[in-house]
Amino acid sequence: MQTIQLGIVGCGNISDAYLTGGARSQIVSVKSVTDLDMDRAKAKAAAYGKQAVSLDEMLSDPDISIIVNLTPPQAHADIGRRTIAAGKHFYSEKPFAVTLAEARELVAAAAAAGLRVGSAPDTFLGAAHQTVRGIIDEGRIGKVVAGAATFATPGMEMWHPNPFFFFEKGGGPVLDIGCYPITQLVNCLGAVESVVAHASKGREIRTITSEMYKGREIKVEVPTTVNGVLAFADGANVSVTVSWDVWKHTRHPIELYGTEGSILNPDPNFFGGTVLSSVRDGEWQEVSIEGRPFGAPTRQGGDGRSLADYRMAGVFDMACAIASGRPHRANGALALHVLEIMEALEVSAVDGRRVNIESRCARPEPVPLGLGEEVFFA
Ligand SMILES: NC(=O)c1ccc[n+]([C@@H]2O[C@H](COP(=O)([O-])OP(=O)(O)OC[C@H]3O[C@@H](n4cnc5c(N)ncnc54)[C@H](O)[C@@H]3O)[C@@H](O)[C@H]2O)c1
Repeated sequence: MQTIQLGIVGCGNISDAYLTGGARSQIVSVKSVTDLDMDRAKAKAAAYGKQAVSLDEMLSDPDISIIVNLTPPQAHADIGRRTIAAGKHFYSEKPFAVTLAEARELVAAAAAAGLRVGSAPDTFLGAAHQTVRGIIDEGRIGKVVAGAATFATPGMEMWHPNPFFFFEKGGGPVLDIGCYPITQLVNCLGAVESVVAHASKGREIRTITSEMYKGREIKVEVPTTVNGVLAFADGANVSVTVSWDVWKHTRHPIELYGTEGSILNPDPNFFGGTVLSSVRDGEWQEVSIEGRPFGAPTRQGGDGRSLADYRMAGVFDMACAIASGRPHRANGALALHVLEIMEALEVSAVDGRRVNIESRCARPEPVPLGLGEEVFFA
């Protein structure tokens, strides 16, 4: 397969993960980068041996077939529209768009133009999450009846260099971090039929303690804690807690309870981690994630944890899928379904009612066993 050339829009905090991931790939190659702040784009281009160009130049470059969008959520739909209008495939960081209406418009425009759209999170392609999916598909914990997912931290203003957008409309923990557990839950359990939720806001004003804007205050426009319940079409119901108001907790990222056993799914923000499973009331047993791609640690987190960070795997899969004509996994229908669930959690919390989910998506195909990106050739 010929290497597929990419352009990256947005050279902020997460762009290093994509540029590092791109450098490991034979499937794709990043040709150009751009940013509203061209000095930032030039610095990133120099660091990774790429070229910095304007967005218009990137969109008119015939060598580039996929645009990878790493701008803040509020810019996703606009970059998506322009990408599709330029006749290029579009892969966006999460959330795919900040409103369901915008996401629907992008998916429809891409379909009409015969183009692909894809979206992070692609972490569900990781070895740990695919192992959990395999255990469920093999029926080893029976039929999943219930579960609990928790993604709760003290917030973003203590580590992110530019944390304003997280607390503006279009930000908030549901859209920013809820997408990780919800995407993995849909990967494992299928589509969601309805949701209910309650929400709260820990503080009206947050003071930044990370370096660049230290001491600046942010007015919080969104709920910062949401507790919801997702009712899946296959009958399971799973509680989801997302919060930026929690200093410490002892909950596991995702727990699923089946008629024959239980399973503990590690942090869906990364690709690897320890999977534990038990049969009925037996002991927890570690389930090996060996033999699957995207599981070995690639770096250390700030807290010293070893992290498997393969962001870009979804782009590798989409590039191979375009070449072979098969569906890709981190696709628009999945992103749209997850976005509808996230929007519904907020609507439910505000209106105090159950919200039905209209969209449906197929569970993405499991990732084949193997060592790395070559699994996507299958
Ligand atoms: N930082 C993380 O750890 C992380 C992790 C996973 C996903 N994400 C997602 O990645 C995206 C970017 O996050 P980030 O943390 O890198 O943000 P950031 O603020 O650090 O960087 C965003 C960059 O996009 C640029 N930009 C803004 N609007 C633009 C436009 N219209 N055209 C071109 N460039 C534009 C900004 O100048 C900035 O350099 C978000 O959707 C976020 O949810 C971030």
